[in-house]
Amino acid sequence: MDTLRFITCGSVDDGKSTLIGRLLFESKAIFDDQLKALQSDSRQYGTQGEKMDLALLVDGLQAEREQGITIDVAYRFFATGQRRFIVADTPGHEQYTRNMATGASTADLAVILIDARKGLLVQTRRHSRIVAMMGIRHVVLAVNKMDLVGFEQARFEAIAAEYRVFAAEFGFATVQAIPLSSLDGDNVLQASARMPWYAGATLLDYLNTVAIGEQGAQAGQGALRMPVQWVNRPNLDFRGFCGRLAAGSVRPGDAVRVLPSGVQTRVKAVWHGFDEVPLAECGDAVTLTLMDEVDASRGDVLVAVDAPPEVADQFEAKLLWMSEHAMAPGRQYLMKLACKEATATVTAIKYQVDINTGAHLAAKTLGLNEIATVNLSCSAPLVFEPYSANRTLGGFILIDKLTFETVGTGMIDFALRRASNIHWQALELKKETRAQQKHQTPRCIWFTGLSGSGKSAIANLLEKRFYAEGRHTYLLDGDNVRHGLNRDLGFTEADRVENIRRVAEVARLMVDAGLIVLVSFISPFRSERELARSKFAEGEFVEVYVDTPIEECERRDVKGLYAKARKGELRNFTGIDSPYEAPLAPEVHLHADTTALEACVEQVVQALL
Ligand code: ADX
Repeated sequence: MDTLRFITCGSVDDGKSTLIGRLLFESKAIFDDQLKALQSDSRQYGTQGEKMDLALLVDGLQAEREQGITIDVAYRFFATGQRRFIVADTPGHEQYTRNMATGASTADLAVILIDARKGLLVQTRRHSRIVAMMGIRHVVLAVNKMDLVGFEQARFEAIAAEYRVFAAEFGFATVQAIPLSSLDGDNVLQASARMPWYAGATLLDYLNTVAIGEQGAQAGQGALRMPVQWVNRPNLDFRGFCGRLAAGSVRPGDAVRVLPSGVQTRVKAVWHGFDEVPLAECGDAVTLTLMDEVDASRGDVLVAVDAPPEVADQFEAKLLWMSEHAMAPGRQYLMKLACKEATATVTAIKYQVDINTGAHLAAKTLGLNEIATVNLSCSAPLVFEPYSANRTLGGFILIDKLTFETVGTGMIDFALRRASNIHWQALELKKETRAQQKHQTPRCIWFTGLSGSGKSAIANLLEKRFYAEGRHTYLLDGDNVRHGLNRDLGFTEADRVENIRRVAEVARLMVDAGLIVLVSFISPFRSERELARSKFAEGEFVEVYVDTPIEECERRDVKGLYAKARKGELRNFTGIDSPYEAPLAPEVHLHADTTALEACVEQVVQALL
């Protein structure tokens, strides 16, 4: 007996719970032995409300639970004579779209509920778009509450027709519309006597018989792909690579390659639990031992030698944003794909997708539940496949580096080739050589603090002191750089992220040139200051927090900007209607309101020594 995984989605109040309740109740619910079969493979299932460890999820989403974050998706189980079913039931409210996406990431089919009185809603369109994006190829359009529209055939036909037109662009393999009354049970299990005009299958008949084919979530076609989850080395004689097959199958003796390194070897044995087995297939969790001592660790992928997947570090991908906090291009996120972690940056939003119409929109940021096609750049090469070919190796999540919140889920479309033809030029003169000529140690001294805190004044004085000592310096000041290189940027969060990214790159080049660079930017966000720090060698980056209380900055108001901001004439002003995230562990902490300028400079100099 096979298993059909499906998700139900719809808006609030369109009868989803009643429908699921009826399916469960009338199909006499869970068969114990079948449930036990499902519980093998160390997967633990529970009934509704309990936390689950569904090994079926995209690995990335699985990671979310490893971090102790629970996504509220209730999985329920039932079986008929023909099939076992796993239903992911997710709340219909808009704020739960992330739950819906989680449920959809493992499903083969979506039951999209529509209230016959209301027809297609924004939520119907949003859910359909996400369902399509998550790779679900089969849709049942459950037109519910037919009793409330007098079982009228015309109403049903009109909704079904409108949906077909709307859904055409998604290329679903099947779209089956069924008129229902979940409250009374019409066309759920028994054909409805009240809708004799409907000759199609009832919902359960349809679910029992619909052919999902190899497009399913656990599609096992193709060559071997096994992301290494961990390496089991209980003693010197045994080294096992543990993981779940994301595609293909494996036997002892098979030639395999470890990616990204490319090292080739053969499989010695395939272990399932404590048993050696002759074969493992897609979906199986196994341990492989290899003929040779090869280096492989968590995140590497064991693949068939003759059909390796691609390795790349830049991608075009679809992205569903799941955080209240908008996505900013240029900001670094943690990316998890299969078992691999890397740092990733959205380098460009190619276009945002209008949930309703599918129209391509220009966008600078992405808000909660918004969808876009983006370019991504990663810190390490990733072994991947397009999501359409393999959900495990093509699906990823983005995690906030500071809060560890899962903020986005994405699907890789293809790799961008642009990076592969640009190689880092090894130059003969090195940073050290240039620095030696200047008799100095290059540094990036990064001043952060509110507008009017005294950053520029201190940096200015410090630079003069360096100059007097015969050192080679440059001062990058926010106001000045914004006149040239960053002339196109304003003060939204996204623009500030880009502002800092650019100036960090410039500072890095200048340090490479052997200079002592002073950067004086508000740089209000921790994550971008961390990004800047990450561009420098250990000890090269010195963060100086110019800590002047906002009351004092406002009292000074050298440029009259606080007054303007208070009057509402200046939006997104740092400290007023735009946040400032104070450094947690700066190298230098200056209380610039109570310390004289010269003393502040002295404090920085001492820290440098
Ligand atoms: S940052 O936040 O992106 O790092 P940056 O240091 O480049 O800011 O620029 C800050 C300077 O721009 C301030 O010193 C101030 O003179 C000016 N400014 C104009 N509008 C704003 C604003 N909304 N918020 C903060 N500074 C502003």
